Amino acid sequence: MSGASSYSGLVDQAFWFILGSSVILLLGITAVLIYFIMKYSRANNPKPAQIEGSKRLELLWTILPTILVMVMFYYGWAGFKVMRDIPEDAMEVVVNARMWSWSFEYPNGVQSSELYVPTGKPISLKLRSSDVIHSFFVPDFRLKEDCMPGRENKAWFETVRDGEFTIFCAEYCGEQHSQMLSKVVSVPPVEFDDWLKKNTGPISPEKLLSIKGCVACHTSDGTPLVGPSYKGLLGRTETVLTDGELREIVVDEEYIRKSILDPNADLVEGFSALMPPMKGQITDEEINTLIEYFKTLK
Ligand code: CUA
Repeated sequence: MSGASSYSGLVDQAFWFILGSSVILLLGITAVLIYFIMKYSRANNPKPAQIEGSKRLELLWTILPTILVMVMFYYGWAGFKVMRDIPEDAMEVVVNARMWSWSFEYPNGVQSSELYVPTGKPISLKLRSSDVIHSFFVPDFRLKEDCMPGRENKAWFETVRDGEFTIFCAEYCGEQHSQMLSKVVSVPPVEFDDWLKKNTGPISPEKLLSIKGCVACHTSDGTPLVGPSYKGLLGRTETVLTDGELREIVVDEEYIRKSILDPNADLVEGFSALMPPMKGQITDEEINTLIEYFKTLK
């Protein structure tokens, strides 16, 4: 099973070398062990002998493992260096991780919930998180890098063939960690340009909810999930927890706006404070689009 990124071969090389040496050592040591058990058993040696040690053997079992470990280091380093050296001409994509979804932002402002890339072109990733630690993991690329709140990590890759490659979250991040999936879609560069062009401009509210990760916890059909549903939201009376005290409010545009930017200020009774504040992650225009959409969900 070969990888789908330009450097996956280097990672595999290090892996197979270490695995291969380990298997050979395991078999060799087991064989010697069995041989010694028989050779030095009490039955064969009724009288114990004093063995003084051997310089030649001691040198041998110091030098050989050192060489072996240095070769392992070389393979590991060779792969690691390539993965850390981001090509200058790489296209920059911002990866936003949050409980429990991924979204991607392209240099021209296009946003998506799946990572479209042109095959054979280097893509550099700026990895961010808006709540807890997540880990961006694409096994096909042999790529795994943490997304940390409050700092930006970097990574890059270049696909070697068209296809779809699953993105996992590899850091346990709560209830729906196992559902925090997306995919890299690698297409010929011409097709990618078309995709980018097609997705430029205003985003539909449904797509916005998916890109911003809302749909992981909220529904539009009245079913409460991790958070309340959007259905019949405006004008609804809710009991909310504000500064440790319960109070009744009527949901209006102002409440929705505040609850997106600072969700835990007025927390609806019966739900946990799990939503990350969206301040700085959503524009006023996008919030207005969502509010207009919520009005239609009667
Ligand atoms: Cu995000 Cu696990």
